[in-house]
Amino acid sequence: MSTHATTSRAPLVQATRLKVLLTRQQIAARVAEMGAEITRDFQGESLILVGVLKGASLFLGDLARNIALDATFDFLGVSSYGDGTQNSGEVRLTKDVDQSMEGRNVILVEDIFDTGLTLNYLKNVMLAHQPHALKIAALLDKPARRLQPIEVDYVGFQIPNEFVVGYGMDYAEHYRNLPDIRILPLEAFQAG
Ligand code: IMP
Repeated sequence: MSTHATTSRAPLVQATRLKVLLTRQQIAARVAEMGAEITRDFQGESLILVGVLKGASLFLGDLARNIALDATFDFLGVSSYGDGTQNSGEVRLTKDVDQSMEGRNVILVEDIFDTGLTLNYLKNVMLAHQPHALKIAALLDKPARRLQPIEVDYVGFQIPNEFVVGYGMDYAEHYRNLPDIRILPLEAFQAG
């Protein structure tokens, strides 16, 4: 998911002052388990991992290295977050996949699902490509604000209703490169 927020709107809180929700060690351990599970489920077969830009890029990279099968990569681009934190309810495809998915095993790889609107939309985009099997892997599940039910096959962690950054996830394009996942206190931003 890309954000349309401007980088100048709010002063950034120094990353080290943000509370850690999930450490890099916790993330690595869970991603290794997810990769092992996918390897078992698709034993003897090949896969296409389809990452959702840009947030899922680090997760896809780590997940892929924990999958002991022939796997190729592709990417989808979407946008919807008007101000960087609230889903506008409108999801738009900004980039489709580059290769044919027809008859292939596809895993859609997403950083986080919240309302469920994005994954539901992307699931339909992928189904239109007529894969043999379509599974969804998401690192984080934020169930508190779900608007549309969505079945996700591989979930890393369920988290509380907090806005998180790091490990690929951003606020106005910042913080993506933090190795841990941290909580951004939105009140601090919205108050100013
Ligand atoms: P949904 O459509 O509401 O399920 O939102 C999914 C998308 O919103 C994800 O792909 C993320 O890009 C973004 N998102 C949701 N919650 C967060 C968050 O806490 N931090 C960063 N991005 C988020």
